[in-house]
Amino acid sequence: MTGGATGIGLAIARALADAGARVVIADLDGAGAERVAGEIGGGASGIAIDVRKRDSVEQAFAGIEQRLGGYQILCANAGVSTMNLVADLTDEEWDFNFDVNARGVFLTNQAAVRHFLKTGAKGIIVNTASLAAKWGAPWLAHYSASKFAVMGFTQALAREVAANGIRVNCVCPGFVKTGMQSREVQWEAKLRSLTPQQVIDEYIAQTPLGRLEQPEDVAKAVLFLCSDLSGFITGESLNVTGGVRMD
Ligand SMILES: NC(=O)c1ccc[n+]([C@@H]2O[C@H](COP(=O)([O-])OP(=O)(O)OC[C@H]3O[C@@H](n4cnc5c(N)ncnc54)[C@H](O)[C@@H]3O)[C@@H](O)[C@H]2O)c1
Repeated sequence: MTGGATGIGLAIARALADAGARVVIADLDGAGAERVAGEIGGGASGIAIDVRKRDSVEQAFAGIEQRLGGYQILCANAGVSTMNLVADLTDEEWDFNFDVNARGVFLTNQAAVRHFLKTGAKGIIVNTASLAAKWGAPWLAHYSASKFAVMGFTQALAREVAANGIRVNCVCPGFVKTGMQSREVQWEAKLRSLTPQQVIDEYIAQTPLGRLEQPEDVAKAVLFLCSDLSGFITGESLNVTGGVRMD
């Protein structure tokens, strides 16, 4: 799984390991990935990867294949965000968000699908999209666009490989309490001349279930999509938002 050294990815890695999977955490922060793999136990291990770069992805996935002797599940969760008005947005911000969120999903999904097709595995892919994959989020136009891309890619790939027994879905988390959210709260407070607490209060007010989402809320949905319980579900974009989105 990618982006598992912290936040939502760490919760997914833990949930998969608790369910008996041997997890490899691949993250830009390779040392962090190794550290949390040791904490998770269950034979989990860590590896460095930069999902923006083809060489890095192909090298890491070849290493994982060798380490595990094959694999059946990919959770492509690594993602980044920055926040800005479109009027002020730079090329660098646009490219950074698209390189990690969209190209990263393409490269890692391609590596996994090639492996599944080669081995005949009925593989499972779960990509982490976002609430912002279905709703154009202000100050996050570039991020939203990159997450719409994740959802479109997920649907197209699901159709392509369904006949091979490979399922491809994505989850769409809402306002999840992680390092990414802490950064966004600070940026949004500044952009809108609010306090960080006011921004958080607005997130909760928009959430029918009435609290901030926790990484474990997302991990449970990912576990479902990785299990036989979701055996007839593919191409789905599952909202995990406490009711913020219902479509
Ligand atoms: N936090 C939220 O509210 C929220 C909401 C919806 C969707 N998401 C999505 O969930 C995913 C995880 O977000 P999070 O909140 O846990 O973020 P986070 O910043 O806490 O963790 C992101 C992880 O991805 C890794 N990463 C970043 N760039 C990478 C790269 N180039 N290659 C490999 N790894 C890289 C980081 O090192 C980190 O471990 C992201 O795709 C994010 O867009 C988050």
